[in-house]
Amino acid sequence: MEDAFIIHGGKKLEGNISLSGAKNSSLKMVIAALLFDEEVRLFNVPAISDVVELLQLIETLGGTAKFIEKNTVLIDGREISKNKVDLLHGSKIRVSFMLAAPLLKKFGFCSIPNPGGCRIGARPIDRIIAGVTALGIDSKYDSETGYYELKMNKKPKGKYSFTKPSHTGTELLIMFGLFSEETIIIENAALEPEIDELIDFLNKSGARIKRENKNIFIEPYKNLKPVPFTIMPDRNEAVTFATLALTTRGDITISKTNPKLLESFTKKTQEANGGYEKLDSETIRFYYKKPLKAVSIETAPHPGFMTDWQPNWAVLMTQAEGSTTICERVFENRFMYVSELRRLGAEIDYVKIPVTNPGEYFFFNFDPAKKYNQAIRILGKQTLHSGVLNVTDLRAGATLAIAALTADDPEESVVYGASILDRGYENFVEKIKSLGGDIERI
Ligand code: EPU
Repeated sequence: MEDAFIIHGGKKLEGNISLSGAKNSSLKMVIAALLFDEEVRLFNVPAISDVVELLQLIETLGGTAKFIEKNTVLIDGREISKNKVDLLHGSKIRVSFMLAAPLLKKFGFCSIPNPGGCRIGARPIDRIIAGVTALGIDSKYDSETGYYELKMNKKPKGKYSFTKPSHTGTELLIMFGLFSEETIIIENAALEPEIDELIDFLNKSGARIKRENKNIFIEPYKNLKPVPFTIMPDRNEAVTFATLALTTRGDITISKTNPKLLESFTKKTQEANGGYEKLDSETIRFYYKKPLKAVSIETAPHPGFMTDWQPNWAVLMTQAEGSTTICERVFENRFMYVSELRRLGAEIDYVKIPVTNPGEYFFFNFDPAKKYNQAIRILGKQTLHSGVLNVTDLRAGATLAIAALTADDPEESVVYGASILDRGYENFVEKIKSLGGDIERI
C-alpha cells in the first residue's frame, strides 16, 4: 500500500453529503463513559482511526470498548485492570492523556505518557497540569520515561482559572470535578461546543454541571447513571465539504449539521461571495455563485473562526480575487501545508503582522525569544496545477486533497500520507466520489 491519494482535479463537486459524528466529541465521550459503573452505548461515533486507536487502548487496559454496529460503540470500564497507559498506543493519540480521569477514579494513581497527536506546534500541557494540581491531584513528569505519574490522595477540591483557555484541558477538569464532594469551579474555561456536549451527556447521566459563559461549576451529584448518547455532527467535516463546493465551483448540500456552530465560517464565506443557504434547521447548502473575493481571517477559540478551518480557507482564498491575510492565533506552527500548496502554484508568503501585545493576542504560550510564523498572505486568484504532495497533519491533509481536487489540470496529483486523514475523516474517498470527485486511494 502506497498510502496515497491519486487525484485528478478540475471536476465540479455536486450532490448531498451527510456528516459523520464529531471526532473531537466522540473521543471525549468514550473516555467519559469509563467513569460509570455500567456499560454505555454511544451512537453516531465515526469509524475513524483515532477512535479505533482509543478503543484498542481501552482494551489494552482491560476494559471493553468496541463498535457493536456501524457507528455504535459499547464501552464498559468495569473490568479495567491496568493503570498504566501503554506508550505505543498512548503516544499516538492526544486524548490518551484524558484517560487519567477514569484511571484516577478507579485506582487513585496512574501513569500516562506525554500526549501525542498531530504535531501542530509544541502543544504543551502546562495549563492542564496546573489545573490538575490546583484541584489537589499530584503530578510528576519523568522526562526519561516520558510518563506523567498522577496521584489522587484525597477528593479534588477548589477552583482553577485558566490563564488562557484549553479545550481538552477544560474537558479533563470537568471529569476530575466529578470526583469531588464540593463544588469545583473552572474559570476562563474554553467555549467549544464539544465541551458543552460532554456537559450535556454527563448531566443527562446525573451530574450537576452548570456553565455561566466562561465559568463552569461542577456540583456534587447523588447518583450517576449513564444514558445512551448520540454524538453531534462533525463541524470540521462540514467546513471541508463547504470549501470543496466553493473551490470546485460546485454545489454541495450538507445535512445533519448544526448551522449555528458554523456561523463564523458561513459569515466569512458570504463576505467572500460564496453561495450559502440554510435549507432547514440541520441542512445547509454551499455553492458557487459568483467570482470569489479575498477576505482575511484570524483564528480564535470558539465562537471565533476555528483554527482547524484556516488551512481550508487558504485553499479557498487561492481561488479568490485579491490579497488575503490569514493569521493563526491558536496554535503555533500551523502553516506546514504552505510549502505543499506552493507546489501546486499557490502564491503564498509568510508575513509579519503588527501585534501590540502578542502575549495576550496569541492563545499558545508566546515566547518573545522564539521566532514564529503566524501569518500568511495569499495572492489570488491562482490557477492551481497538479503535483506531488505530502500530508503533514490531519486538517492540512484534507486541505491538500481539496487543493488537488481544485487544480485545473488533467494530470494526476499524488497526495502521500493518506492514512493521516483516516484519523478524522470517515469514508473520505467514498464521499468525494459520490460528489463526482476523481480520487483513488492506493
Ligand atoms: N496549550 C498550552 N498549554 C496547555 C494547553 C494548551 O500551551 O496546557 C496551547 C495549545 O498548544 C494551543 C492552545 O493552547 O496552542 C489551545 O489549545 P487547546 O488545549 O484549546 O487545544 P486542544 O484541546 O489540544 C482541541 C482539538 C483540536 C482543536 C482545538 C481548538 C481535540 C482532541 N483536539 O485541541 O483539534 O484544533 O481544540 O478547538 O479536541 C483536530 O481535530 O485536528 C485538532 C487539532
